[in-house]
Amino acid sequence: MNRWRSQVAEWLKLQFPVSWETFSASLNEPVPNHLKKWWWCIGGIPAYLFIVLVATGLALTFYYVPDPERAYDSVSRITHEVPFGWWIRSLHRWSATLMIISVVLHVFRVYFTGSYRRPRELTWLFGAGTLFVVLGFAFTGYSLVYEQLSYWAATVGANMTSAVPLVGESLARFIRGGEQIGADTLTRFFVFHVGIFPALLTVLLVLHIVQIRLHGITELHFKDETPGESQHFRFFPDHVITELIIGVGLMVVLSAFAVIFPPELGERANPLVTPAHIKPEWYFYFTFRWLKLTSLGIALLCMGVAGVLFVFWPFVDKILGKLSRRDLSIPIGIIAVLTVIVLTVWEAVAY
Ligand code: HEM
Repeated sequence: MNRWRSQVAEWLKLQFPVSWETFSASLNEPVPNHLKKWWWCIGGIPAYLFIVLVATGLALTFYYVPDPERAYDSVSRITHEVPFGWWIRSLHRWSATLMIISVVLHVFRVYFTGSYRRPRELTWLFGAGTLFVVLGFAFTGYSLVYEQLSYWAATVGANMTSAVPLVGESLARFIRGGEQIGADTLTRFFVFHVGIFPALLTVLLVLHIVQIRLHGITELHFKDETPGESQHFRFFPDHVITELIIGVGLMVVLSAFAVIFPPELGERANPLVTPAHIKPEWYFYFTFRWLKLTSLGIALLCMGVAGVLFVFWPFVDKILGKLSRRDLSIPIGIIAVLTVIVLTVWEAVAY
């Protein structure tokens, strides 16, 4: 057995002529002590969910048809006829929802611990890119179902885009694939959802993780620390075991949600009948409410400014720090979070 094992090891060494000691040492970076507690490890959760999304998404693609005449029926077939189709669809939808929740929680943790500051500006920028791609995934995915609400949400999205100054009209035409929502729009949403966004997210995640590996994770210190205790612990196997336990727990929660709350199917899209109450998915409620409170131009301007401030926050924070000589990030963060929560709840309870 041992001889067989050493022969395999030798063969592998021959095929991959690299120094395994250096390679394993480069992976095995010391991890700050606070990551022993699972709630500081939220960053790993979206990574797990991305794998589930790709696996279930591929399975759905075997049956989904990106054609306005057949899209709705293909989703109905997946939900009601294909063996375990409802389950795969449910896992896909719940993974998407949990992905958005976990990315937002991860942003909260990074923001409120100031972990985006120098030298981690690029880590934040790549992370912010992933957030926008995740939202793009959600928007295009919702529209693929081709039920009334998904069709009209896509219409509202395209109309909003066309109101952007200078480039808006061309951008909206590009998204729609013409002057109106139709067959070409669905093809484009499909291409973005199953091709462009997965590739983009993979690249951004690799860049994000390379940055995290290069800089290490910001060390946080707490009052309950034991004096003299080492500030770090081993990535392998200690941190890997924590991440594996989180992964198993996540799969249990995801499976429970998927089985207890399977997705439904609304009315088939009808371009001639505008529904009385159009609502996007809950994660876009805050933008939708903001749109209702102001004119389209002002709403877009505010969202654009907020988006730019968010993406470039590490630099904005630095300038604010120099101007005021105080750390304004916490009050600004609390105001931003409360605004989003209030607008979301408002839209949720409004009819
Ligand atoms: C799919 C999305 C994402 C994944 C899978 C991901 C993954 C991770 C992981 C595994 C870590 C290591 C520490 C931890 O677990 O908290 C981390 C750190 C970090 N992330 Fe993300 N992330 C994502 C999105 C984002 C977003 C949207 C932002 C900000 C806009 C962001 C900013 C950061 C920063 C600044 C760090 C360094 C924190 C530190 O040094 O303590 N990430 N990310």
